[in-house]
Amino acid sequence: MTPTIHELLSNDKALGPVTVKGWIRTRRETKTAVFIELNDGSCLANIQCVFSLESAASDTNKPEIARATTGASAVIEGMLVASPGQGQKVEVQASAIRILGEAPVESYPLQKKAHSLEFLREIAHLRARTNTFGAVARVRNRMAFAVHEFFQSQGFYYVHTPIITASDAEGAGAMFQVTTLDLDRVASSGKPDYEKDFFGKPAFLTVSGQLNVETYCQALSRVYTFGPTFRAENSNTTRHLSEFWMIEPEIAFAELSDDIELAKNFIRHLVTTALKDCADDLAFFDARIQPGLIAGLEKVSKGEFSQMTYTDAVKELEKSKDSFEFTPFWGCDLQSEHEKFLTEKVVGGPVVVTNYPKEIKAFYMKQNDDGKTVAAMDVLVPRFGEIIGGSEREWRLDLLEKRMDELGLKKETYSWYLDLRRYGTTPHAGFGLGFERLLLYVTGMTNIRDVIPFPRAPKLADF
Ligand code: 4AD
Ligand code: MG
Repeated sequence: MTPTIHELLSNDKALGPVTVKGWIRTRRETKTAVFIELNDGSCLANIQCVFSLESAASDTNKPEIARATTGASAVIEGMLVASPGQGQKVEVQASAIRILGEAPVESYPLQKKAHSLEFLREIAHLRARTNTFGAVARVRNRMAFAVHEFFQSQGFYYVHTPIITASDAEGAGAMFQVTTLDLDRVASSGKPDYEKDFFGKPAFLTVSGQLNVETYCQALSRVYTFGPTFRAENSNTTRHLSEFWMIEPEIAFAELSDDIELAKNFIRHLVTTALKDCADDLAFFDARIQPGLIAGLEKVSKGEFSQMTYTDAVKELEKSKDSFEFTPFWGCDLQSEHEKFLTEKVVGGPVVVTNYPKEIKAFYMKQNDDGKTVAAMDVLVPRFGEIIGGSEREWRLDLLEKRMDELGLKKETYSWYLDLRRYGTTPHAGFGLGFERLLLYVTGMTNIRDVIPFPRAPKLADF
């Protein structure tokens, strides 16, 4: 393998003969030289390749330089030298160029320097070649690795939870159904015969790995899952995807306070890692996408998180009722406008909100003694609100069964989950971090469809 541009730019000891490979960003001709900027996505920066007029005019180079348009892939040979110009430490004094694949000017869609994110969303297969999406992809990669680093360094075991499931973990009833039944036939016969379906009963794509990961938590004590999850809610917002990735740790012999501590340390680790290892990409986002991004992240990496109960949060919101489209009241589900207000106006940073009304939270959350609230916690951040949702779990069989009855959940479907309470139950807690929400937070991008390579959302079926 030839060295990447990242390797060449970060290692100036390697001055001497080089071969570089990448996609042409620009070609510029002056009176004294031809400049080609090459990018291979290994880092944000391009490598500048300079052809003297003589080298550019050689029999072999001349026709290739003519084909060296934006987007074409090329191999350039030359000497890596200290750059006399500004803006780069090293450059290639080029002696030979070969075009591998042309990108005709008339049809290559990425001609301009800056394209709108909306336009780029329509060409998801090419958008990774832009600065913005290259940077998002590199940060996404580093954050995925940092997730594992964090949990592995703290004695957590990674558990692969299933994607196909029969149970609705969040009780929200917005699941994609998985079936091999012939839908046209079902439509004409009037009713699906689930006994004839693949699993002999209705099956769905999971909305969360939590219920499954709890089984391993009740055996290995500290576990986490990190995988794709699916929600069929018709939420056409900049914060929702139909297919997104979630990280869900679960800890045995733990209470809500342990869960909150873990969540704070986790976010701090991710933010600190991004600042340290993705500095160039974050500087790009700070300059082009979200001014003040780095300062905000630095505050989180060093600072404390605020914490307040749901009841106090609602009191704060009620003081400024008129600022909202949706009037807040005790018992309401916090809207994103409320969450933004709490983080941006009340606290000025991330905040952990605890003890929500049980009516607006999932069946599995531990019921508090007040009979009204559950031991839940959400982590909210400026700009878009909820990034983490979690809780202590109801570990007392009788109370869990009672709650399931109240909500009309079929206990047969959850019998394995109830067994965890029947045999050797323990207080335990966990949370879910939406990976793309984390990426919105760390990159400063504003639309969640821009932080996953191939977004899936309602009516967005451009597969
Ligand atoms: O709050 P949620 O629904 O919690 C759960 O699924 C729990 N089972 C987690 C747990 O305790 N193990 O979702 C968790 C997080 C949210 O805070 C949000 O960051 C993200 O998942 N999320 C979404 N991200 C993108 N698109 C969507 N449609 C999302 N729905 C939730
Ligand atoms: Mg939630």
